[in-house]
Amino acid sequence: MKKTIILLAMALLAIQPLRADEGMWLPALISQRIDDMQKNGFRLTAEDIYSINQASLKDAVVLFGSGCTGELVSDDGLLLTNHHCGYSYIQRHSSVEHDYLKDGFWAMSRSEELPNRGLTVSFLERMDDVTAEVLKGCHDGMSEADRDARIRKNSDALIKKATKDGKGLQARVEALYYGNQYYLFIYKVYRDVRLVGAPPSSIGKFGGETDNWMWPRHTGDFSIFRIYAGRDNEPADYSADNVPFHPKRSMRISRTGVKPGDFTFVYGCPGSTREYVIGEDVHYIGYESDPRKIALRTTRLDIQKKYMSQSQAVRIQYSSKYASVANAWKKWQGESKGIVRLGTVASKKAYEARFREWARGGRYDGLVDKLYGLYERRNPYYLASEYYSETIRTIELVQFAAQVKNRLGDARAKSELAETFFKDYYQPIDEEIFEAMVGAFDSQVDDSFKPEWFRQTLASYGSVKAWRDDLFARSIFTDKARVLALGEEDAAAVDQDPAIQLSEAFAAWYSEQISPVLSAVNKDINLAYRDYMRAQMEFEPDRAFYPDANLTLRVAYGHVEGYSPSDAIEYYPVSTLKGIIEKDDPDIFDYNIPQVLRDIYAEGGHDDQPVCFLATNHTSGGNSGSPVMNADGALVGINFDRVWEGTMSDVAFDPAFCRNISLDIRYLLFVVEHVGHASYLFDEMHFAD
Ligand code: ARG
Ligand code: GLU
Repeated sequence: MKKTIILLAMALLAIQPLRADEGMWLPALISQRIDDMQKNGFRLTAEDIYSINQASLKDAVVLFGSGCTGELVSDDGLLLTNHHCGYSYIQRHSSVEHDYLKDGFWAMSRSEELPNRGLTVSFLERMDDVTAEVLKGCHDGMSEADRDARIRKNSDALIKKATKDGKGLQARVEALYYGNQYYLFIYKVYRDVRLVGAPPSSIGKFGGETDNWMWPRHTGDFSIFRIYAGRDNEPADYSADNVPFHPKRSMRISRTGVKPGDFTFVYGCPGSTREYVIGEDVHYIGYESDPRKIALRTTRLDIQKKYMSQSQAVRIQYSSKYASVANAWKKWQGESKGIVRLGTVASKKAYEARFREWARGGRYDGLVDKLYGLYERRNPYYLASEYYSETIRTIELVQFAAQVKNRLGDARAKSELAETFFKDYYQPIDEEIFEAMVGAFDSQVDDSFKPEWFRQTLASYGSVKAWRDDLFARSIFTDKARVLALGEEDAAAVDQDPAIQLSEAFAAWYSEQISPVLSAVNKDINLAYRDYMRAQMEFEPDRAFYPDANLTLRVAYGHVEGYSPSDAIEYYPVSTLKGIIEKDDPDIFDYNIPQVLRDIYAEGGHDDQPVCFLATNHTSGGNSGSPVMNADGALVGINFDRVWEGTMSDVAFDPAFCRNISLDIRYLLFVVEHVGHASYLFDEMHFAD
């Protein structure tokens, strides 16, 4: 008897659900996790997180733009998100006279708040499981094409019905678990969103690329907006007559802060994860794709950096381009290292071996082998497409030429494009990148995956360098005056341009030889995953599966905790103003803080001012700006990053390394008060303590 109990206990341990910290859960199903959350310290109920009958925390969270999250902190529509999420809007309002990126921006009254064309925020009204409705009329044995058509028709009908009354309503049907489940998401989209405040970049982007994805971190990564609505509180286009929006719910702010071990949860919109794929997919990411893309980007970054360090003007021109190349570059380094360290490929393969055993003789027999076969077909094509994006498509002139060609008939659009392009273009960088990237495409891509035109052209030039010299000498697109003078009558000359020829030869090759195979095999892979996902759920009936991220609203929970990045180093999870002063260096751009911050610090008493903290919440790109709350649902921070050693959490979560990085909300309050002198904003906030 005793033995049976021990065996039973061991069996239960083996199929234990995921560790508490892993998971991005659907708010509507949070009741399934609420016991575990409460066991970990949460003091509210599932209805407090998500409810369609009463105001709940979900009514205070928005999708900000199309790739970030934001949270409401007042009854008058005041909204917080990251500085890097508001960056492009802050930049658009900036000029030499008003450099809000450099100096920060603070509206001193509502009349000074700045409208932002094109910026929207989306509130989730509700999410419903519509699997039965979406699959109505589908049956085993029907073709996939018929099934797709049926699904589309059913979804369109649901969307139409959901949005028919009510201003600003938008709806989407999302496939979860690779199409095993369908959810209807109904959003209300507000489109008058104004800038209220942003710290100087030397606070909001403190640490720059040097500290990006890293701990210890000291970035004041926040910006403040306000949502406006028509007099009926409904979405409206920008108008001076609009009034501050009154949300159903706003968040209370905690000024008590966090300490190691405290429960936290994050409510936001993670973009994309692939947690249930086979070992081959992870192998491709960690051992093929990431290392190659990292090396290509290292070359590009080195070239940019060389010229940026020689000239202040070039540094300004390329800092934003450099940042976007460097962001994924650094993430991939952590991801591939993490995949190797964690042995994810081996553990996936071991899992697949157990799965195969279980599946033998049943309907899922052979499924994993089928997936491996599909990847074998996919990988060379996918690799070629990744090389195309990371080499040929990084040549600025070639991209620009193609865009101009599409706008030959539209003088205004063409001249706007040319102005933007030449303002931030430095040809010596592009020439060097051309040579390095075309050379890399030539030497690293298998001959059978190169366009025939490419091989012939390169052979006729004799060297990449000769090609480069000729292209930059002959192309009309290097010359702003000539680009501005182009009209539809120049179509023939444009077609003969060497930059256009390069762009079009590759585009044709991609659409004729790569993309058709890739789309077909990806479709088959997704279909196989539909079965494999369902099969995994049957194989492990006691495991809690959360759907892969797809920019829909999720809840992740964990606790404040540091980590050990390597032997003999233990990171404490809270950073302070003292650390900013330690890093401060007027000679290093990323660490040059505003004088006002030095002065405040010199007054004394601010050593312990908290700045950022680490926690174990499972987040991803898109979670930027997400509210981080404590056990009572009060706002303690704003998520803005992960530590790079844990970025493989998009494919495999490692509780020892995966940490999200948040701005401590008290640092936001500190900067608003002492740097922005805008503490009038506190009057409309609700403080929990
Ligand atoms: N790593 C963060 C994210 O993926 C922040 C990016 C913006 N900051 C930067 N220094 N580039 O979006
Ligand atoms: N900075 C990321 C964002 O913009 C969040 C970091 C991550 O978790 O990937 O969403």
